[in-house]
Amino acid sequence: MGCRPRNPEAKGDRVSGGNNKHYRDATRLVTGGRRPEWTQRIVNPPVWRASTILYDNVAQLRDSATRDTHHRLFYGRKGTPTQWALAEALTDLEPGAEATFLYPSGVAAISAALLAVLSPGDELLLPDSVYDPTRGFATGFLKRFGITTRFYDPTVGAGIADLISDTTRAIFMESPGSLTFEVQDIPAIVAVAKEHGLVTLLDNTWATPLLFPAIEKGIDLTILACTKYVVGHSDVMMGSVTATPELWQTLRSTSFALGQTVSPDDAWLGSRGLRTMGVRLAQHGKSALTIAQWLQSRPEVARVLHPALDTCPGSDIFHRDFKGASGLFGFVFNGGDEESRAAFIDALDLFGIGYSWGGFESLATPVDPQRIRTATRWEAEGPAVRLQIGLEDTDDLIADLEQALACIRTRP
Ligand SMILES: Cc1ncc(COP(=O)(O)O)c(C=O)c1O
Repeated sequence: MGCRPRNPEAKGDRVSGGNNKHYRDATRLVTGGRRPEWTQRIVNPPVWRASTILYDNVAQLRDSATRDTHHRLFYGRKGTPTQWALAEALTDLEPGAEATFLYPSGVAAISAALLAVLSPGDELLLPDSVYDPTRGFATGFLKRFGITTRFYDPTVGAGIADLISDTTRAIFMESPGSLTFEVQDIPAIVAVAKEHGLVTLLDNTWATPLLFPAIEKGIDLTILACTKYVVGHSDVMMGSVTATPELWQTLRSTSFALGQTVSPDDAWLGSRGLRTMGVRLAQHGKSALTIAQWLQSRPEVARVLHPALDTCPGSDIFHRDFKGASGLFGFVFNGGDEESRAAFIDALDLFGIGYSWGGFESLATPVDPQRIRTATRWEAEGPAVRLQIGLEDTDDLIADLEQALACIRTRP
C-alpha cells in the first residue's frame, strides 16, 4: 500500500476553506480561498462576473431573499466566488478573525469600518500621524454626523487612558504612521481599550498580517489598503477590513447598506497578487533596510525614519512586536529647502514620482507633516522625503540615490 495524504480530503485546492489554519503563513498564502467549488479545479479562482443571478421560479427567488447570503449566489453586489475567495484568503492570514469584507479602495475600507462602529455623539481617537484622508474623513464627514475626533500623540502608549472621555467609543491606530513612521505601542493601547470597552481599529497596510497579525494582537477591525502589497503591481484599487467574530455582522451589514462591492476582475487580480505577497514583502523589506542604512551614513541626511532603526520613534516597540519591516520609509535632509528637495527627487532615474506604494517599482515623494498635524509638532532639520523601495537591484537604487544627492550638492 502506497503513502496517502495525512488528510485524505487535502489536495492543493482542498486545503482551503478553513482547513489550512494549522499551516504557516507562506502555505496559507498559497492555499487560501481555493475551494474546489469556487475554482472548479482551476488553480487560481477564476473570474465569476455577475450582476443578475437567475432562479428557477418565484418561490425559489423569495426563499433566497430570506436566507443568509454569505458564500451563496444571490445578486452580484453580494459577490461571487471570485470575491469570496480573496476575502477568505485574507481572513486565513488573521488567526482569530471571523471574516473579511472587500472595498473598492483603502479609503472606502477605512470609512466603512469607522461608520460600522461609530454613532452620533461618539468620540473617536485618531493618531496625529494618521494617513491624511483618514483625518479628512473624520474631521469632515464624521463631524457632519455629530461624531467628534480627538487627535493623540502616536507615541502615547498606555497614556491613551488619560484621553478617554465618557463619549469615547473607538481608538484608531496606524503603525507605523503615514509619512513619519512612528511605531505605536498597540498592545498597551489595546489593553486600555479593552478595560474601557472601546473598539480598536488598525490601518495595517504597512505591515500586512504577515508582519503584524492584528486580530491575534487584540485589534477588533484590521484594515488593509490592498492597493499596496496585496495587489502588489500598482494596477488595482482595493481595500479590506477583517473583523473579530463579535464585530463581523455589524461590519458586514454596514458595508452592504453603503453598497460596497468590488469588481470580480479586481478581486481576481488581488488573489493573484496575494500568492506572492510573502516573497515580495521579504524582498521589499530587505532592500529597504539596506538602503535606509546607506542613507543613514550620508552627510546630506539628518535622520532616517525607518521603524527598524533607532532614529525612528518607537523602534524598540517595532523590534518587540513586528516580524519584520516592509519597503516604505522616509528620511529628513540635513538642511536644504523645498527647491533642493525637488531637485533631488527630479534627478532620480529609477524612482517614479507619484502617490501610493507597495508595487514592484520604486517611488519617491516629498512629505510635509508640519502642514497636517494638530496634536503634536513636526520639527525637522530639513525637508522630508518618502521612499517606496521596489524590487529593482539594491545597488542600482543606491547608485541612483547617490547621483541625485550629488546633483543637489553641485547645484548653483
Ligand atoms: C496607510 C494608508 N492607508 C490607506 C491608504 C488608502 O488606500 P487607497 O489609496 O487604496 O484608498 C493609503 C494610500 O496611500 C495609505 O498609505
